[in-house]
Amino acid sequence: MQPSLRRKFSPEFYSAAAASTMKPAASAARKGGNLSVFVLVFSIFLFGCFMYNENVKSVADFPFSRPKPKESQTTETAMTVSVVMNSRTVVETEVDSAGKAEKEEEEEEQQKNVEIPAAEEEEEEIEIPPEDCDLFTGKWVFDNSSHPIYREEQCEFLTAQVTCMRNGRRDSLYQNWRWQPRDCSLPKFKARLLVEKLRNKRLMFVGDSLNRNQWESMICLVQSVVPPGKKSLTKNGSLSVFRIQEYNATVEFYWAPFLVESNSDDPTMHSILNRIIMPRSIKKHGNNWKNVDYLVFNTYIWWMNTFTMKVLRGSFEEGATEYDEVDRAVAYGRVLRTWAKWVDKNVDPNRTQVFFMSMSPLHIKSLDWDNPDGIKCAKETAPILNTSMPLNVGTDRRLFALAANVTKSMKVPVHFLNITTLSEYRKDAHTSVYTIRQGKMLTPDQQADPATYADCIHWCLPGLPDTWNEFLYALVGFCFLVQVQNAVSTVDYGAALTKSLLFYEAQRSGKLPPDQRILWRADSALSDGKSAGIDLVGGYYDAGDNVKFGFPMAFTVTMLAWSVVEFGPQLQARHELSNALRAIKWGTDYLIKAHPEPDVLYGEVGDGGSDHACWQRPEDMTTPRTVYRIDDQHPGADLAGETAAAFAAASVAFRKSNPAYSYLNLRKNTAANIRIASQLLDSSIPVVAMRTNFCGLVHGYNEQPTTIPTSNSSTDLPIQGILERKLSGAGKLGEYKNNAEQYICNCIQKGNSNVPRTNGGLLWFLEWDNLQYVTSASFIITAYARSLAAARTTLRCAAGDVAPHDLISFARSQVDYILGSNPKRMSYMVGFGSNYPKQVHHRGASIVSIKKDGRPVNCQEGFNEWFHKNAENPNVLEGAVVGGPDQRDEYRDARDNYQQAEPATANNAPLVGVLASLAAPSHSV
Ligand SMILES: *[C@@H]1O[C@H](CO)[C@@H](O)[C@H](O)[C@H]1NC(C)=O
Ligand SMILES: *[C@@H]1O[C@H](CO)[C@@H](O)[C@H](O)[C@H]1NC(C)=O
Ligand SMILES: *[C@@H]1O[C@H](CO)[C@@H](O)[C@H](O)[C@H]1NC(C)=O
Ligand SMILES: *[C@@H]1O[C@H](CO)[C@@H](O)[C@H](O)[C@H]1NC(C)=O
Ligand SMILES: *[C@@H]1O[C@H](CO)[C@@H](O)[C@H](O)[C@H]1NC(C)=O
Ligand SMILES: *[C@@H]1O[C@H](CO)[C@@H](O)[C@H](O)[C@H]1NC(C)=O
Ligand SMILES: *[C@@H]1O[C@H](CO)[C@@H](O)[C@H](O)[C@H]1NC(C)=O
Repeated sequence: MQPSLRRKFSPEFYSAAAASTMKPAASAARKGGNLSVFVLVFSIFLFGCFMYNENVKSVADFPFSRPKPKESQTTETAMTVSVVMNSRTVVETEVDSAGKAEKEEEEEEQQKNVEIPAAEEEEEEIEIPPEDCDLFTGKWVFDNSSHPIYREEQCEFLTAQVTCMRNGRRDSLYQNWRWQPRDCSLPKFKARLLVEKLRNKRLMFVGDSLNRNQWESMICLVQSVVPPGKKSLTKNGSLSVFRIQEYNATVEFYWAPFLVESNSDDPTMHSILNRIIMPRSIKKHGNNWKNVDYLVFNTYIWWMNTFTMKVLRGSFEEGATEYDEVDRAVAYGRVLRTWAKWVDKNVDPNRTQVFFMSMSPLHIKSLDWDNPDGIKCAKETAPILNTSMPLNVGTDRRLFALAANVTKSMKVPVHFLNITTLSEYRKDAHTSVYTIRQGKMLTPDQQADPATYADCIHWCLPGLPDTWNEFLYALVGFCFLVQVQNAVSTVDYGAALTKSLLFYEAQRSGKLPPDQRILWRADSALSDGKSAGIDLVGGYYDAGDNVKFGFPMAFTVTMLAWSVVEFGPQLQARHELSNALRAIKWGTDYLIKAHPEPDVLYGEVGDGGSDHACWQRPEDMTTPRTVYRIDDQHPGADLAGETAAAFAAASVAFRKSNPAYSYLNLRKNTAANIRIASQLLDSSIPVVAMRTNFCGLVHGYNEQPTTIPTSNSSTDLPIQGILERKLSGAGKLGEYKNNAEQYICNCIQKGNSNVPRTNGGLLWFLEWDNLQYVTSASFIITAYARSLAAARTTLRCAAGDVAPHDLISFARSQVDYILGSNPKRMSYMVGFGSNYPKQVHHRGASIVSIKKDGRPVNCQEGFNEWFHKNAENPNVLEGAVVGGPDQRDEYRDARDNYQQAEPATANNAPLVGVLASLAAPSHSV
């Protein structure tokens, strides 16, 4: 059961407080501001890919038909203005060296700008290739604006074998050709997106030197988005690993030129003319391919020396030396069948995607393409463009057909990448004499003798293998993209909003009103407070138990009120504004009672230990209703502060609809509570250093709370001012603003210390009730997007500028995940859709309604008859957001699984505003 401690210190509060200070420097009054920036075609996203149970986490990175707002085209000068600093830096340099610190940061920023070319950040339309489009039939088009995708000198990881320009090649046009499929287009390569897909994943190329060629290309394609020092290349025997530390991603190459065992398996000793294979032995290599997420195979060039293949009788280990000579195609067929069997047996298609690269062609005879003056490929500077001309450059099509056949008939689906024909056109793209031979650069004499020395097998980089990787890129994202297109706008945010507010009626404590909509509930805890001689009836049970914890209640009220302040019109449009206000008032009516005199605040009714030892409906609770309070002898500045925030926020929320309630009740309490909070900070707890690394957000206040007035002034409340955006972001508030911005950058994966995500794309904070942090983050991101939009500006993150619609897109991705767009296809909002948690950890919902069966359920009976019953809850806890899935996107729907299956008022509160925003018809934010 849940210890009562867990929400005593609620990280969301601090994040909320910090976030509430967010205000772009240029922000004009938001009200009435032109929000048209947001009336954009929102990036559409959706989720899931049934095909391979593909992960969907990078969905937010796919921009679709999204016009780029002018505001985000910041100039170089503008970019260096808003420097994100960490709070420590600010604090330490505040007095006199702030300028210096800023400069250092600037320099760092500029270095990053160099590292990540601006073009990389550009967002253009992605044309999604239709599922049935044949990507491999098309033509080469000259396109020097999009190709090369990277520059030779920018990729430190290229080996001398492929750096043709550095090795003396003069013509560079071979880098400028783009493959244009006939019936569709390849998506524009986005390194960041691919790296996101590779997070916590392994991509491995297995095969011969052509696959190594492609591996080097892949490294160059992804490495540009990784800052120096955060990537490394290590070689160990047959395996070479390029590692991207901060993504925990690897791009690997495993040397196995025949896939099966052979006498050519030494990764460095290559001059083996007498090649011998063991067509049935693959295990030794295969053991190195297990648990890889993307496997890319090839095998071809080593087969081409002779027409027959030498097949060992026995094994090398047994010292066998005798072999049979077998026709090349026959031996190739045997090897591929061995390989296919291994893949079918060892690869889990739910985890791993498998690719097979078809044959990379050679260009040895220039007469093949009608150039009598040519010398091998050495004089070629342009591709073959006349594709109606039949072309035969000597590729062994029998092997091609075998590979195409075998890959089609496997149990594990294998993408056969048909690169042969399109590569046959690229006689211009080989390394030729601009390469190395046995580890040494060709000498000028050798370069002058291409007939002997030209390498017309391997390819320059940048160059043709980049295109092969563009195919890989398209296919890695393919099923995902298709899903994205189909699943547009299937989420009914309006219905989710309605339900999210219904949940609060199920959590009500006290005497229920006549308009109560959750009818399986009845009056409960009508004597709360009596033991202390006061009336503490009302308020909310915070989760699946029957305790009234002050901290989550105050947080809940704060976030609901902020939702109303921020999204009032959107709530109104869905006819949910009055329900939202009622949900707030149910909380504030109680909080007013809990603060009966200055310097006293009742913080809890009921006792975690005794309550959790029983499983009873709130209506027939028999557990002690102990009251706890903070006062001048019993400090609790955090609780007082949170409660003050709740009053302040609620007073703003009610100002229009119920001004009397707003001013007389709430403001008064706000002031008084702030007094408790600040006094306690000053005296009882001189140094309150509450730091948590929630979302990389370091926050706290270890100095005098200078921004909190100790007077009774009710006209100058900072929290209210912040909510209304009347205060600037200078000083302490500026520090909060910076922290909040870092927090947001880290959440949306553009910061220096990004929040991990599950494969399904969900932000991952903690095992226990992870979704409370996700909903808080989504709210803050959404609210801040509105501020940015109103100020017509963007958010500056370590990884680049972020436009408001990117923030909204990200928040939406999290909400969609919660509502069912996830690998389990489960909605973590109870009662939403058809697949949702049925055994929610909730006393009231898991026991038959007292209105159906009035017999009291005693403390232990509840466990025996209801808690341990493996059946759906008798009452559907409409709208409740449970703790949610684990780090592997898994969810165990069991009542005893309180970490995942327990709902909480704090989970829902931030979601209310986000849902109101997403449900708005125009998506205007
Ligand atoms: C491979 O692609 C070429 C065009 O590039 C096409 O003519 C050929 O039919 C394709 N082969 C297979 C097996 O898909
Ligand atoms: C691209 O090619 C065109 C036509 O050959 C040429 O005019 C232009 O300068 C080239 N641009 C770059 C950036 O190389
Ligand atoms: C890092 O990646 C490896 C390989 O994909 C994976 O097994 C491991 O769980 C990842 N580590 C974390 C912390 O996610
Ligand atoms: C290299 O690989 C071998 C076997 O695969 C392993 O035992 C060894 O620890 C590795 N060496 C390094 C430095 O990683
Ligand atoms: C893959 O996932 C599907 C659907 O979730 C499941 O039925 C199947 O058993 C899984 N296959 C493997 C090999 O785990
Ligand atoms: C392409 O090749 C075909 C067949 O050799 C030939 O008839 C045709 O004229 C060529 N087209 C061009 C534009 O050169
Ligand atoms: C490929 O498969 C088809 C049908 O299964 C068969 O007719 C053909 O002979 C096969 N080709 C090769 C080269 O194995």
